Amino acid sequence: MSSSEREPIAVIGTGYVGLVTAVGFAELGSDVWCVDVDAEKIDRLRRGEIPIYEPGLDELVARNSSRLHFSTELAPALEHARLLFVAVGTPPTHSGDADLSAVHAVVGSMPRPDGHALVMKSTVPCGTGANIRRIFNESGKSGFSYVSCPEFLKEGSAVGDFMHPDRVVVGGEGDWAEEAVVRLYEPLDAPLVRTDIASAEMIKLAANAFLATKISFINEIANVCEALGADVVEVARGMGLDDRIGPKFLQAGIGYGGSCFTKDVSALKLLAGNSGYHFQLLNAVIEVNELQKRRVVSKLKRHLGALAGKRIALLGLAFKPNTDDMRGASSLVLAARLQAEGAHVRAYDPIAEDQARTLMPQLDYADCADGAIADADAVILVTEWREFIELEWEQVARAMRGTLVIDGRNALDGTAVRAAGLTYEGIGRRR
Ligand code: UDX
Repeated sequence: MSSSEREPIAVIGTGYVGLVTAVGFAELGSDVWCVDVDAEKIDRLRRGEIPIYEPGLDELVARNSSRLHFSTELAPALEHARLLFVAVGTPPTHSGDADLSAVHAVVGSMPRPDGHALVMKSTVPCGTGANIRRIFNESGKSGFSYVSCPEFLKEGSAVGDFMHPDRVVVGGEGDWAEEAVVRLYEPLDAPLVRTDIASAEMIKLAANAFLATKISFINEIANVCEALGADVVEVARGMGLDDRIGPKFLQAGIGYGGSCFTKDVSALKLLAGNSGYHFQLLNAVIEVNELQKRRVVSKLKRHLGALAGKRIALLGLAFKPNTDDMRGASSLVLAARLQAEGAHVRAYDPIAEDQARTLMPQLDYADCADGAIADADAVILVTEWREFIELEWEQVARAMRGTLVIDGRNALDGTAVRAAGLTYEGIGRRR
Protein backbone atom coordinates (compact mmCIF):
# COMPACT_ATOMS: atom_id res chain seq x y z
CA MET A 1 0.00 0.00 0.00
CA SER A 2 1.41 3.42 -0.87
CA SER A 3 1.62 5.97 1.93
CA SER A 4 -1.10 8.10 0.29
CA GLU A 5 -3.57 5.19 0.25
CA ARG A 6 -5.88 4.90 3.19
CA GLU A 7 -6.01 1.58 5.03
CA PRO A 8 -9.36 -0.18 4.63
CA ILE A 9 -10.85 -1.16 7.97
CA ALA A 10 -13.68 -3.20 9.45
CA VAL A 11 -15.90 -2.08 12.29
CA ILE A 12 -17.73 -4.73 14.27
CA GLY A 13 -20.78 -3.33 16.04
CA THR A 14 -22.75 -0.41 14.58
CA GLY A 15 -23.94 1.36 17.74
CA TYR A 16 -22.96 4.94 18.58
CA VAL A 17 -19.25 4.30 18.77
CA GLY A 18 -19.08 1.84 15.86
CA LEU A 19 -21.13 3.89 13.45
CA VAL A 20 -19.36 7.16 14.20
CA THR A 21 -15.94 5.47 13.95
CA ALA A 22 -16.90 3.83 10.66
CA VAL A 23 -18.28 6.99 9.14
CA GLY A 24 -15.40 9.09 10.48
CA PHE A 25 -12.75 6.87 8.92
CA ALA A 26 -14.75 6.71 5.68
CA GLU A 27 -14.73 10.52 5.64
CA LEU A 28 -10.94 10.38 6.02
CA GLY A 29 -10.80 8.15 2.94
CA SER A 30 -10.88 4.53 4.14
CA ASP A 31 -13.18 1.89 2.80
CA VAL A 32 -15.04 0.58 5.83
CA TRP A 33 -16.72 -2.80 6.23
CA CYS A 34 -19.31 -2.57 8.98
CA VAL A 35 -20.54 -5.77 10.58
CA ASP A 36 -23.42 -6.22 12.99
CA VAL A 37 -25.37 -9.27 14.18
CA ASP A 38 -28.59 -7.24 14.00
CA ALA A 39 -29.90 -7.96 10.46
CA GLU A 40 -32.64 -5.34 10.69
CA LYS A 41 -30.14 -2.63 11.62
CA ILE A 42 -27.88 -3.64 8.72
CA ASP A 43 -30.86 -3.50 6.35
CA ARG A 44 -31.72 -0.01 7.52
CA LEU A 45 -28.12 1.15 7.18
CA ARG A 46 -27.96 -0.27 3.65
CA ARG A 47 -31.02 1.80 2.82
CA GLY A 48 -29.21 4.86 4.17
CA GLU A 49 -31.31 5.06 7.35
CA ILE A 50 -29.49 5.96 10.55
CA PRO A 51 -30.72 3.92 13.54
CA ILE A 52 -29.62 6.51 16.11
CA TYR A 53 -30.21 10.23 16.52
CA GLU A 54 -26.86 11.95 16.22
CA PRO A 55 -26.57 15.42 14.66
CA GLY A 56 -24.57 15.45 11.41
CA LEU A 57 -24.27 11.68 11.10
CA ASP A 58 -26.82 11.24 8.30
CA GLU A 59 -25.06 13.74 6.02
CA LEU A 60 -21.73 12.06 6.62
CA VAL A 61 -23.17 8.61 5.89
CA ALA A 62 -24.74 9.91 2.68
CA ARG A 63 -21.53 11.61 1.58
CA ASN A 64 -19.45 8.47 2.12
CA SER A 65 -21.96 5.85 1.07
CA SER A 66 -19.66 4.47 -1.63
CA ARG A 67 -16.98 3.73 0.95
CA LEU A 68 -19.32 2.19 3.55
CA HIS A 69 -20.23 -1.49 3.25
CA PHE A 70 -22.74 -3.04 5.64
CA SER A 71 -23.12 -6.76 6.33
CA THR A 72 -24.07 -9.28 8.97
CA GLU A 73 -21.19 -11.46 7.72
CA LEU A 74 -17.65 -11.19 8.99
CA ALA A 75 -16.07 -12.84 5.93
CA PRO A 76 -16.09 -9.82 3.57
CA ALA A 77 -14.64 -7.65 6.34
CA LEU A 78 -11.82 -10.14 6.95
CA GLU A 79 -11.15 -10.34 3.26
CA HIS A 80 -10.83 -6.60 2.74
CA ALA A 81 -9.45 -5.26 6.02
CA ARG A 82 -6.54 -6.08 8.32
CA LEU A 83 -7.73 -3.87 11.16
CA LEU A 84 -10.96 -4.97 12.81
CA PHE A 85 -12.27 -2.25 15.11
CA VAL A 86 -14.45 -3.75 17.85
CA ALA A 87 -17.29 -1.48 18.98
CA VAL A 88 -19.78 -3.86 20.53
CA GLY A 89 -21.69 -3.07 23.73
CA THR A 90 -20.21 -3.77 27.15
CA PRO A 91 -23.24 -3.12 29.37
CA PRO A 92 -23.10 -3.65 33.12
CA THR A 93 -23.99 -7.10 34.43
CA HIS A 94 -26.33 -7.44 37.42
CA SER A 95 -23.23 -7.29 39.61
CA GLY A 96 -22.13 -4.01 37.96
CA ASP A 97 -19.02 -5.48 36.27
CA ALA A 98 -18.73 -4.97 32.50
CA ASP A 99 -20.45 -7.71 30.50
CA LEU A 100 -17.85 -8.78 27.97
CA SER A 101 -19.90 -11.51 26.30
CA ALA A 102 -20.26 -9.56 23.03
CA VAL A 103 -16.50 -8.85 23.00
CA HIS A 104 -15.74 -12.53 23.59
CA ALA A 105 -18.20 -13.55 20.88
CA VAL A 106 -16.16 -11.43 18.45
CA VAL A 107 -12.88 -12.88 19.73
CA GLY A 108 -14.30 -16.41 19.40
CA SER A 109 -15.50 -15.78 15.87
CA MET A 110 -12.06 -14.80 14.59
CA PRO A 111 -10.65 -17.30 12.11
CA ARG A 112 -7.16 -18.71 12.28
CA PRO A 113 -5.32 -16.80 9.51
CA ASP A 114 -2.62 -14.39 10.60
CA GLY A 115 -2.24 -10.82 9.54
CA HIS A 116 -5.30 -9.30 11.22
CA ALA A 117 -5.63 -7.17 14.33
CA LEU A 118 -8.43 -6.51 16.76
CA VAL A 119 -8.58 -2.83 17.64
CA MET A 120 -10.65 -2.42 20.79
CA LYS A 121 -12.94 0.61 20.80
CA SER A 122 -15.47 -0.82 23.26
CA THR A 123 -14.87 0.28 26.83
CA VAL A 124 -13.45 -2.77 28.58
CA PRO A 125 -11.91 -3.38 32.00
CA CYS A 126 -8.18 -2.90 32.29
CA GLY A 127 -6.69 -6.35 31.68
CA THR A 128 -9.06 -7.33 28.87
CA GLY A 129 -6.38 -6.96 26.20
CA ALA A 130 -4.06 -9.27 28.15
CA ASN A 131 -6.88 -11.83 28.48
CA ILE A 132 -7.65 -11.69 24.78
CA ARG A 133 -3.96 -12.08 23.95
CA ARG A 134 -3.90 -15.22 26.15
CA ILE A 135 -7.07 -16.59 24.46
CA PHE A 136 -5.56 -15.99 21.01
CA ASN A 137 -2.29 -17.65 22.01
CA GLU A 138 -4.06 -20.67 23.52
CA SER A 139 -6.28 -21.16 20.48
CA GLY A 140 -3.50 -21.13 17.91
CA LYS A 141 -4.26 -17.58 16.78
CA SER A 142 -1.11 -15.95 18.11
CA GLY A 143 -0.73 -14.23 14.72
CA PHE A 144 -3.58 -11.89 15.66
CA SER A 145 -2.44 -8.46 16.78
CA TYR A 146 -4.22 -6.45 19.43
CA VAL A 147 -4.52 -2.70 19.89
CA SER A 148 -6.47 -0.75 22.50
CA CYS A 149 -7.84 2.46 21.03
CA PRO A 150 -10.45 3.85 23.42
CA GLU A 151 -13.11 6.24 22.16
CA PHE A 152 -13.94 9.46 23.98
CA LEU A 153 -16.80 10.77 21.86
CA LYS A 154 -19.82 12.37 23.46
CA GLU A 155 -23.34 11.68 22.29
CA GLY A 156 -24.85 14.69 20.58
CA SER A 157 -21.46 15.92 19.35
CA ALA A 158 -19.99 12.58 18.34
CA VAL A 159 -19.11 13.51 14.75
CA GLY A 160 -17.25 16.65 15.82
CA ASP A 161 -15.54 14.74 18.62
CA PHE A 162 -14.30 12.12 16.15
CA MET A 163 -12.98 14.72 13.72
CA HIS A 164 -11.44 16.98 16.37
CA PRO A 165 -10.42 14.76 19.29
CA ASP A 166 -8.63 16.26 22.31
CA ARG A 167 -6.26 13.31 21.99
CA VAL A 168 -5.95 9.92 20.39
CA VAL A 169 -4.90 7.05 22.64
CA VAL A 170 -3.28 4.00 21.06
CA GLY A 171 -2.09 1.15 23.28
CA GLY A 172 -0.31 -1.66 21.50
CA GLU A 173 2.48 -4.16 21.38
CA GLY A 174 4.76 -2.07 19.18
CA ASP A 175 3.87 -4.03 16.03
CA TRP A 176 2.47 -3.27 12.55
CA ALA A 177 -1.09 -2.95 13.87
CA GLU A 178 -0.21 -0.22 16.36
CA GLU A 179 1.62 1.63 13.56
CA ALA A 180 -1.35 1.23 11.22
CA VAL A 181 -3.82 2.62 13.78
CA VAL A 182 -1.55 5.59 14.46
CA ARG A 183 -1.35 6.27 10.70
CA LEU A 184 -5.14 6.10 10.37
CA TYR A 185 -5.49 8.93 12.87
CA GLU A 186 -2.64 11.06 11.46
CA PRO A 187 -4.86 13.36 9.31
CA LEU A 188 -6.72 14.50 12.44
CA ASP A 189 -3.49 16.03 13.75
CA ALA A 190 -4.47 15.36 17.37
CA PRO A 191 -2.11 14.88 20.30
CA LEU A 192 -1.20 11.19 20.38
CA VAL A 193 -0.79 9.13 23.53
CA ARG A 194 1.05 6.00 22.48
CA THR A 195 1.27 3.54 25.30
CA ASP A 196 0.88 -0.07 26.40
CA ILE A 197 -2.47 -1.85 26.23
CA ALA A 198 -3.27 -1.86 29.96
CA SER A 199 -2.55 1.87 30.31
CA ALA A 200 -4.72 2.69 27.30
CA GLU A 201 -7.59 0.69 28.82
CA MET A 202 -7.11 2.50 32.12
CA ILE A 203 -7.02 5.95 30.50
CA LYS A 204 -10.58 5.51 29.26
CA LEU A 205 -11.96 4.32 32.61
CA ALA A 206 -10.03 6.92 34.59
CA ALA A 207 -11.11 9.77 32.29
CA ASN A 208 -14.80 8.90 32.61
CA ALA A 209 -14.52 8.33 36.36
CA PHE A 210 -12.78 11.68 36.77
CA LEU A 211 -15.43 13.55 34.79
CA ALA A 212 -18.16 11.88 36.85
CA THR A 213 -16.26 12.84 40.01
CA LYS A 214 -16.13 16.44 38.85
CA ILE A 215 -19.91 16.46 38.41
CA SER A 216 -20.63 14.82 41.75
CA PHE A 217 -18.20 17.25 43.39
CA ILE A 218 -19.92 20.33 42.00
CA ASN A 219 -23.30 18.83 42.87
CA GLU A 220 -22.21 18.51 46.50
CA ILE A 221 -20.89 22.08 46.40
CA ALA A 222 -24.32 23.09 45.05
CA ASN A 223 -26.05 21.36 47.93
CA VAL A 224 -23.81 23.14 50.44
CA CYS A 225 -24.36 26.45 48.60
CA GLU A 226 -28.10 26.01 49.14
CA ALA A 227 -27.55 25.60 52.86
CA LEU A 228 -25.16 28.55 53.13
CA GLY A 229 -26.68 31.08 50.72
CA ALA A 230 -23.98 30.93 48.03
CA ASP A 231 -24.64 30.48 44.32
CA VAL A 232 -23.01 27.46 42.68
CA VAL A 233 -22.95 29.03 39.22
CA GLU A 234 -20.82 31.88 40.56
CA VAL A 235 -18.70 29.42 42.52
CA ALA A 236 -18.13 27.20 39.46
CA ARG A 237 -17.19 30.22 37.38
CA GLY A 238 -14.67 31.33 39.96
CA MET A 239 -13.26 27.83 40.30
CA GLY A 240 -13.18 27.09 36.58
CA LEU A 241 -11.02 30.09 35.73
CA ASP A 242 -8.22 28.35 37.59
CA ASP A 243 -6.25 26.68 34.79
CA ARG A 244 -5.66 23.64 36.95
CA ILE A 245 -9.40 23.11 37.38
CA GLY A 246 -10.91 24.29 34.09
CA PRO A 247 -14.51 25.36 33.50
CA LYS A 248 -15.94 22.18 31.99
CA PHE A 249 -18.03 19.59 33.80
CA LEU A 250 -18.73 21.95 36.66
CA GLN A 251 -22.41 22.37 35.87
CA ALA A 252 -24.45 21.40 38.89
CA GLY A 253 -27.79 19.73 38.26
CA ILE A 254 -29.91 16.70 38.90
CA GLY A 255 -27.10 14.24 38.30
CA TYR A 256 -25.23 12.73 35.41
CA GLY A 257 -26.74 10.03 33.24
CA GLY A 258 -25.87 8.22 30.04
CA SER A 259 -24.56 4.77 29.47
CA CYS A 260 -20.88 5.57 29.93
CA PHE A 261 -20.55 7.35 33.25
CA THR A 262 -22.91 5.10 35.17
CA LYS A 263 -21.39 1.95 33.69
CA ASP A 264 -17.73 2.92 33.73
CA VAL A 265 -17.64 4.37 37.24
CA SER A 266 -19.19 1.20 38.59
CA ALA A 267 -16.96 -1.00 36.41
CA LEU A 268 -13.81 0.79 37.60
CA LYS A 269 -14.89 0.55 41.24
CA LEU A 270 -15.50 -3.19 40.91
CA LEU A 271 -12.38 -3.74 38.83
CA ALA A 272 -10.34 -2.15 41.63
CA GLY A 273 -12.24 -4.23 44.20
CA ASN A 274 -11.65 -7.44 42.27
CA SER A 275 -7.95 -6.75 42.39
CA GLY A 276 -8.04 -6.07 46.14
CA TYR A 277 -8.24 -2.26 46.17
CA HIS A 278 -11.16 -0.44 47.75
CA PHE A 279 -11.78 2.64 45.56
CA GLN A 280 -13.57 4.70 48.19
CA LEU A 281 -13.93 7.92 46.23
CA LEU A 282 -16.00 6.26 43.50
CA ASN A 283 -18.49 4.94 46.05
CA ALA A 284 -19.20 8.52 47.02
CA VAL A 285 -19.39 9.67 43.38
CA ILE A 286 -22.07 7.08 42.67
CA GLU A 287 -24.04 7.73 45.86
CA VAL A 288 -24.00 11.51 45.45
CA ASN A 289 -25.31 11.09 41.91
CA GLU A 290 -28.14 8.78 42.96
CA LEU A 291 -29.23 11.16 45.72
CA GLN A 292 -28.94 14.15 43.41
CA LYS A 293 -31.54 12.66 41.05
CA ARG A 294 -33.94 12.56 44.01
CA ARG A 295 -33.27 16.01 45.46
CA VAL A 296 -35.87 17.66 43.28
CA VAL A 297 -38.56 15.70 45.10
CA SER A 298 -37.74 17.38 48.40
CA LYS A 299 -37.59 20.77 46.69
CA LEU A 300 -41.09 20.17 45.33
CA LYS A 301 -42.37 19.12 48.73
CA ARG A 302 -40.93 22.22 50.37
CA HIS A 303 -42.98 24.37 47.99
CA LEU A 304 -46.08 22.25 47.38
CA GLY A 305 -46.43 20.09 50.49
CA ALA A 306 -47.55 16.51 49.85
CA LEU A 307 -47.28 15.65 46.17
CA ALA A 308 -50.30 13.35 45.93
CA GLY A 309 -52.61 14.71 43.22
CA LYS A 310 -50.18 17.45 42.21
CA ARG A 311 -49.57 17.93 38.48
CA ILE A 312 -45.90 17.95 37.62
CA ALA A 313 -44.54 18.71 34.14
CA LEU A 314 -41.19 17.22 33.14
CA LEU A 315 -39.46 19.12 30.34
CA GLY A 316 -36.98 16.74 28.74
CA LEU A 317 -36.38 13.08 29.40
CA ALA A 318 -33.14 12.21 27.53
CA PHE A 319 -30.00 12.03 29.67
CA LYS A 320 -28.78 15.19 27.95
CA PRO A 321 -29.87 17.37 25.01
CA ASN A 322 -29.31 16.43 21.35
CA THR A 323 -29.71 12.72 21.94
CA ASP A 324 -32.61 10.30 22.19
CA ASP A 325 -30.64 8.15 24.62
CA MET A 326 -32.49 7.35 27.85
CA ARG A 327 -29.83 5.10 29.39
CA GLY A 328 -29.14 6.17 32.96
CA ALA A 329 -31.30 9.29 32.52
CA SER A 330 -32.14 11.17 35.70
CA SER A 331 -35.71 11.40 34.41
CA LEU A 332 -36.19 7.66 35.01
CA VAL A 333 -35.56 8.01 38.74
CA LEU A 334 -37.33 11.33 39.05
CA ALA A 335 -40.52 10.23 37.25
CA ALA A 336 -40.68 7.01 39.26
CA ARG A 337 -40.20 8.87 42.57
CA LEU A 338 -42.87 11.44 41.70
CA GLN A 339 -45.34 8.77 40.70
CA ALA A 340 -44.60 6.88 43.90
CA GLU A 341 -45.52 10.07 45.80
CA GLY A 342 -48.87 10.09 44.00
CA ALA A 343 -48.12 13.01 41.67
CA HIS A 344 -49.54 13.17 38.17
CA VAL A 345 -46.53 13.40 35.86
CA ARG A 346 -46.80 14.74 32.33
CA ALA A 347 -43.64 14.68 30.27
CA TYR A 348 -42.39 15.99 26.97
CA ASP A 349 -39.14 15.36 25.12
CA PRO A 350 -38.59 16.53 21.53
CA ILE A 351 -36.70 13.39 20.48
CA ALA A 352 -36.54 10.76 23.22
CA GLU A 353 -40.25 9.99 23.63
CA ASP A 354 -40.16 6.65 21.81
CA GLN A 355 -37.23 5.43 23.89
CA ALA A 356 -38.87 6.78 27.03
CA ARG A 357 -42.17 5.05 26.30
CA THR A 358 -40.52 1.64 26.27
CA LEU A 359 -38.91 2.30 29.67
CA MET A 360 -41.79 4.24 31.24
CA PRO A 361 -45.00 3.10 29.52
CA GLN A 362 -47.11 4.32 32.44
CA LEU A 363 -46.11 7.96 32.04
CA ASP A 364 -48.42 10.57 30.52
CA TYR A 365 -46.71 12.02 27.41
CA ALA A 366 -47.47 15.42 25.90
CA ASP A 367 -46.66 16.15 22.28
CA CYS A 368 -45.24 19.59 22.94
CA ALA A 369 -43.87 21.62 25.83
CA ASP A 370 -47.12 23.61 26.12
CA GLY A 371 -49.04 20.36 26.46
CA ALA A 372 -46.90 19.25 29.39
CA ILE A 373 -47.04 22.65 31.08
CA ALA A 374 -50.82 23.18 30.84
CA ASP A 375 -52.38 23.19 34.32
CA ALA A 376 -49.15 22.07 35.99
CA ASP A 377 -48.52 22.91 39.63
CA ALA A 378 -44.80 22.74 38.96
CA VAL A 379 -42.57 22.56 35.90
CA ILE A 380 -39.20 20.82 36.10
CA LEU A 381 -36.47 21.32 33.53
CA VAL A 382 -34.88 17.87 33.32
CA THR A 383 -32.97 18.10 30.01
CA GLU A 384 -31.77 21.46 28.74
CA TRP A 385 -33.06 21.24 25.15
CA ARG A 386 -32.81 24.64 23.45
CA GLU A 387 -36.57 24.93 22.96
CA PHE A 388 -37.09 24.90 26.74
CA ILE A 389 -34.46 27.56 27.30
CA GLU A 390 -36.27 29.74 24.78
CA LEU A 391 -39.73 29.34 26.35
CA GLU A 392 -41.83 32.47 26.75
CA TRP A 393 -42.24 32.54 30.51
CA GLU A 394 -45.22 34.93 30.48
CA GLN A 395 -47.03 32.35 28.38
CA VAL A 396 -45.90 29.52 30.67
CA ALA A 397 -47.20 31.44 33.69
CA ARG A 398 -50.62 31.83 32.05
CA ALA A 399 -50.80 28.13 31.17
CA MET A 400 -49.76 26.74 34.57
CA ARG A 401 -52.05 26.14 37.53
CA GLY A 402 -49.26 26.82 40.02
CA THR A 403 -46.15 28.99 39.88
CA LEU A 404 -43.16 26.75 40.62
CA VAL A 405 -40.36 26.26 38.06
CA ILE A 406 -37.47 24.01 39.07
CA ASP A 407 -34.44 24.34 36.84
CA GLY A 408 -32.76 20.96 37.17
CA ARG A 409 -29.88 21.98 34.89
CA ASN A 410 -29.33 25.61 35.93
CA ALA A 411 -29.91 26.44 32.30
CA LEU A 412 -32.83 28.89 32.45
CA ASP A 413 -32.74 32.64 32.88
CA GLY A 414 -34.00 32.85 36.46
CA THR A 415 -34.61 36.61 36.18
CA ALA A 416 -36.93 36.11 33.17
CA VAL A 417 -38.78 33.31 34.93
CA ARG A 418 -39.29 35.46 38.05
CA ALA A 419 -40.29 38.47 35.97
CA ALA A 420 -43.20 36.40 34.66
CA GLY A 421 -44.44 36.05 38.24
CA LEU A 422 -43.18 32.51 38.65
CA THR A 423 -41.14 31.05 41.49
CA TYR A 424 -37.72 30.02 40.18
CA GLU A 425 -35.54 27.48 41.92
CA GLY A 426 -32.34 26.05 40.47
CA ILE A 427 -29.80 23.64 41.90
CA GLY A 428 -27.47 25.38 44.35
CA ARG A 429 -28.64 28.84 43.23
CA ARG A 430 -29.26 31.78 45.52
CA ARG A 431 -32.98 32.20 45.96
C1 UDX B 1 -19.33 10.62 28.22
C2 UDX B 1 -17.90 11.16 28.08
O1 UDX B 1 -17.93 12.59 28.13
C3 UDX B 1 -17.27 10.66 26.80
O2 UDX B 1 -15.91 11.09 26.72
C4 UDX B 1 -17.33 9.15 26.78
O3 UDX B 1 -16.80 8.64 25.58
C5 UDX B 1 -18.76 8.64 26.97
O4 UDX B 1 -19.31 9.21 28.16
P1 UDX B 1 -21.72 11.15 27.16
O5 UDX B 1 -22.22 10.03 27.99
O6 UDX B 1 -22.12 11.23 25.73
O7 UDX B 1 -20.12 11.14 27.14
O8 UDX B 1 -22.18 12.51 27.85
P2 UDX B 1 -21.53 13.80 28.54
O9 UDX B 1 -21.69 14.96 27.66
O10 UDX B 1 -20.17 13.53 29.05
O11 UDX B 1 -22.56 14.00 29.76
C6 UDX B 1 -22.81 12.97 30.69
C7 UDX B 1 -23.82 13.40 31.73
O12 UDX B 1 -23.25 14.33 32.63
C8 UDX B 1 -25.09 14.05 31.18
O13 UDX B 1 -26.21 13.54 31.88
C9 UDX B 1 -24.89 15.52 31.50
O14 UDX B 1 -26.12 16.19 31.68
C10 UDX B 1 -24.13 15.42 32.80
N1 UDX B 1 -23.29 16.61 33.09
C11 UDX B 1 -22.27 16.94 32.26
C12 UDX B 1 -23.54 17.36 34.22
O15 UDX B 1 -24.46 17.06 35.00
N2 UDX B 1 -22.73 18.43 34.48
C13 UDX B 1 -21.71 18.79 33.68
O16 UDX B 1 -21.03 19.78 34.00
C14 UDX B 1 -21.46 18.02 32.53
